[in-house]
Amino acid sequence: MDNFSFLNPTKIIFGRGTEKNVGEEILNYSKNILLHYGGGSIKKTGLYDRIIKSLDNAGIRYVELSGVKPNPRLSMVYEGIRLCKQEKLDFILAVGGGSTIDSSKAIAMGVLYDGDVWDIYSGKATAESALPVGTVLTIPAAGSESSNSSVITNEDGWYKRGHSSDVIYPRFSILRPELAYTLPKYQVGCGAADILAHLMERYFTNTQHVELTDRLIESTMKTIIHHIPKVLKDPENYDSWAEIMWGGALAHNNLMNTGRVGDWASHNIEHELSGIYDVAHGAGLAVVFPAWMKYVYKHDIKRFCQFATRVWDVEPNFFSPEETALEGISRLERFFSSIGMPVTLAELKVPLDRLEEMADKATNGDKSTLGQFVPLKRADVLSILKLAA
Ligand code: NZQ
Ligand code: ZN
Repeated sequence: MDNFSFLNPTKIIFGRGTEKNVGEEILNYSKNILLHYGGGSIKKTGLYDRIIKSLDNAGIRYVELSGVKPNPRLSMVYEGIRLCKQEKLDFILAVGGGSTIDSSKAIAMGVLYDGDVWDIYSGKATAESALPVGTVLTIPAAGSESSNSSVITNEDGWYKRGHSSDVIYPRFSILRPELAYTLPKYQVGCGAADILAHLMERYFTNTQHVELTDRLIESTMKTIIHHIPKVLKDPENYDSWAEIMWGGALAHNNLMNTGRVGDWASHNIEHELSGIYDVAHGAGLAVVFPAWMKYVYKHDIKRFCQFATRVWDVEPNFFSPEETALEGISRLERFFSSIGMPVTLAELKVPLDRLEEMADKATNGDKSTLGQFVPLKRADVLSILKLAA
């Protein structure tokens, strides 16, 4: 196990009816806030009215900015920064999923950064500070509710880039499992794929002697795999949603990569797909991850056998570990298909004419490599995209 320091400062407020107290929670930070949300699901579900009531009861002044799109855009971030400065707002409440939360984090950094906030995402600058952000989560998926990352798409060139900084950990996140009842089935599948991907990115490591975190990751994966089919059948199954929502946060709050180095190539490859084609991040991962696995499994067959036997209950074949490893990958793929996820670029409706461009962008024109488990060059990324075709 590697040396590490671990601090996740996000206060989690979990359970039934918990969004009612959002106003009081915000009073610890501010009385003038930006209320940021997406395309309107929160109005349809009635969540918006309950949030407004809580803000009014607490005497909080709010300015609204709605319309965050999945794969959140830089132009919306600029608008948020402008509003916060003009209206003197010093707290951002994100009500929604990863897209709204990431947009909020970008605005939070941008307000206090003396320059173009894209500098932070393009690697030209680092964020020294940010306004405080709080979240009310409506979809277990991205894990942004307790992560130190934000991913934004720049419409100029369709670059989707992430930034991680401890200044953007949300101060609190309200996780009320009932809010997931209204999710479309496709979004449930995308969320599951993203949660599993966050766990697998951490699982496939070259770090040795990481038994505890291996076991934590495996059991979190098994919990997600067990409960997702249940909520697809019965969308108001509180107990299953509770497991999934807490699992989604734990999968990405950095606990599970303590003392180990994760991979993250699949995420970076996927960001090129959703950057250019605006596909859902989870669906893109369901396509990229199995292809990545087929490309790299020989690097550490033992680890892939462990994944197959412990997570997917594959009967080990002692005469052919390779067969065991491949069966684990195949079961992952079948699981994705069974929950309505695409597993090929064709199913994702992504044409094959820009694979070279994506491989180029992902590796910065072959000047950098992707991933830690097996560092990938441009040609490797291209091969993986072709395997995904
Ligand atoms: O916009 P509205 O109308 O709210 O609809 C949303 C949106 O269309 C809908 N939705 C959300 N909650 C709902 C609901 N519909 C009905 N009932 C509800 N309760 O679902 C759609 C997807 O929302 P979005 O916020 O895009 O989903 P998700 O949480 O999957 O976020 C995806 C974004 O997060 C980034 C991804 O790249 C992507 O841009 N990620 C962020 C990470 C981070 N900050 O740590 C890590 C991840 O790896 C990921 O990259
Ligand atoms: Zn993800």
